[in-house]
Amino acid sequence: MNFQLSEEHSMLKQTIRAFAEKEIKPKAAEHDKTREYPFENVRKAAGLNLMGIMIPEEYGGGGMDCVSYVIAVEEISRCCASTGVIISVNNSLYCHPVLFFGTEEQKRKYLSPCAKGEKIGAFCLTEANAGSDAGNQQSTAVFKGDRYILNGTKLFVTNGVAADYMIIFAMTDRGKKTKGISAFIVEKDFSGLTKGKDEVKLGITCSGACEIVLENCEVPSENLLGKEGDGFKIAMNALEEGRIGIASQAVGIAQAILDESLKYSKERVQFGKPISEFQAIQWMLSDMATEIEAARLLNYRAAMKRDSGAKYTLESSMAKLFASEVAMKSAIKGIQIFGGYGYINEYPMERFFRDAKITEIYEGTSEIQRLIISGLILKGN
Ligand code: CAA
Repeated sequence: MNFQLSEEHSMLKQTIRAFAEKEIKPKAAEHDKTREYPFENVRKAAGLNLMGIMIPEEYGGGGMDCVSYVIAVEEISRCCASTGVIISVNNSLYCHPVLFFGTEEQKRKYLSPCAKGEKIGAFCLTEANAGSDAGNQQSTAVFKGDRYILNGTKLFVTNGVAADYMIIFAMTDRGKKTKGISAFIVEKDFSGLTKGKDEVKLGITCSGACEIVLENCEVPSENLLGKEGDGFKIAMNALEEGRIGIASQAVGIAQAILDESLKYSKERVQFGKPISEFQAIQWMLSDMATEIEAARLLNYRAAMKRDSGAKYTLESSMAKLFASEVAMKSAIKGIQIFGGYGYINEYPMERFFRDAKITEIYEGTSEIQRLIISGLILKGN
């Protein structure tokens, strides 16, 4: 067992930290305020192969491993959590399923441009009545001649406003329940697809989450991803990797909170001394540091299991559950350390607090992660 990052991973961490500090962090507060999708960040991240980190080089990706993905999403999220999820979704929820389930032609046409960051990908699973209950898809896909006709409305689609290509899930055979769900690669300009309103959110305000409306949307049959009925399996497979990405985002946010809290507590003087000299503050800092390290290690473990080729459903859910709750707990402590200054937008703490909350919700709420974990351990996994 080795708890040290390899030399290569340590170098990657340093490189991405320096990049994120210089290129991403200075504009994070402004992006949060304007809610404008950060195309510039995507372009810059693509320059470091961050839009398709684990995608083989032959398809335009970085050809790196999952530990590298974890490092990258953590370091980017430490500076801008919106950019962190934009990268994670493009990698895990779009590129990953096209790589694993796509035909060679689909990979050339729809994977390479997104892995290179020339185009942006999104994942359309959630609907008004299919959130945690993802199998309850109301969108339909009916085969007609040489194409499928899709109808329905997808919600909260991260990257939606910017997406060129989307993986869209819809029912092809309702009688078969989850085995009647199919996945399609859909281009933004396909007839019958419109983008709905860009949601005004509490946090990660510029991740471009919008509705995708399908009204007799025509999708060529060659854009079916996998086979008819494979959709639920494809969604679950993508989310397994995606949850490692969200755990990385959560660790990144928590680390930013700790870094700012350490700095502030040494500068802020009350009762004649820096507040870092008060035990009440020291204990909060200690708890944060310990929990963040535990979350990071749990997530590295999930990534290493994925890299080994073994099943990692349990590990990714554990990492996502623990890291997201650590991010939220750290955010509560961070605000407390900053006091009134934590509550105003002159300081980044209130943004971290707002950004942290979503990690307990998307890509499976904490309750869904507990359901998955208990299901697996009760089966003796
Ligand atoms: N891999 C492969 N197959 C899987 C699987 C997995 N990880 N998990 C389940 N399956 C299979 C099951 O084996 C089962 O097949 P059989 O019938 O042959 O046994 C089938 O799928 C149905 O499984 P369940 O009966 O367990 O399904 P369920 O309806 O009870 O739901 C669930 C399971 C875990 C709760 C699932 O619905 C779930 O993960 N819900 C959360 C949804 C979610 O994470 N949404 C995120 C939206 S995307 C997002 O947030 C992106 C973003 O913008 C950032």
